[in-house]
Amino acid sequence: MARTPLVAGNWKMNFDHLEATYFVQKLAWLLRDAHFDHKRCQVALLPAFTALRSVQVLVEADNLPISYGAQSVSVTSQGAFTGDVSADMLAQLGCRYVIVGHSERRKYHPEDDANIVDQVRAVLAAGMKPILCVGESYEERRQGIELEFAVSQVNDVTRDLSQEDMENLIVAYEPVWAIGTGMVATPETAQEAAQAIRAHIGRQFGKKSGEAVKILYGGSVTSKNASQMIQEHDVDGFLVGGASLDVQEFARIVRLAA
Ligand code: G3P
Repeated sequence: MARTPLVAGNWKMNFDHLEATYFVQKLAWLLRDAHFDHKRCQVALLPAFTALRSVQVLVEADNLPISYGAQSVSVTSQGAFTGDVSADMLAQLGCRYVIVGHSERRKYHPEDDANIVDQVRAVLAAGMKPILCVGESYEERRQGIELEFAVSQVNDVTRDLSQEDMENLIVAYEPVWAIGTGMVATPETAQEAAQAIRAHIGRQFGKKSGEAVKILYGGSVTSKNASQMIQEHDVDGFLVGGASLDVQEFARIVRLAA
């Protein structure tokens, strides 16, 4: 099955709303000037909450072929939850994607498997696409249980989802030891994990769902390793951190993934 690649930039806690606006404009120029065919690769930017409205105004005003989204979401929908942001609020800003379960959220915030499945449900209910992040630490890899670990993280969420939910779920395999370290996984490692995740979803929801689910790789992706990685059959794109902060580099990665 042909799955359209997706390259998403996870800006983490970087860029204010003015820098975000400049980045989106510059990225649009770079891709236009390269005669980039957006049908060959979907492009998404995931800024901090504070930049979402600025990105929305620019993308909608210029009808830019760039999607955007958020890096986390509250499981509650409304009310006395100081500091939280609901999925409906993100959807009202035109968000298409929301990262759920990023290792940095699991590490620094009380986000466990139960909370993560509730986040996934909230994102789906608001009509957006959750990007579910899974991936082992160095310790799990040392023990040789990296595949079981990543699959169990996926299963902790998908076992509570419907077939229809799966049409909008995206999985990002992000081995924790590769995030921010420059130690990118080999294409074979990424393929092995993506294949195991895809096979599990196929067993749970049928071959068609397994073949259709988009599985991204994240963890020290750059334009130096993207072209080899995207050749892997079960890798459908990237969730890019550090390299997404450089618009020229991010545009290179997008073009390599197409
Ligand atoms: O969500 C993607 C991010 O965690 C990867 O970060 O800097 O290793 O590309 P980085």
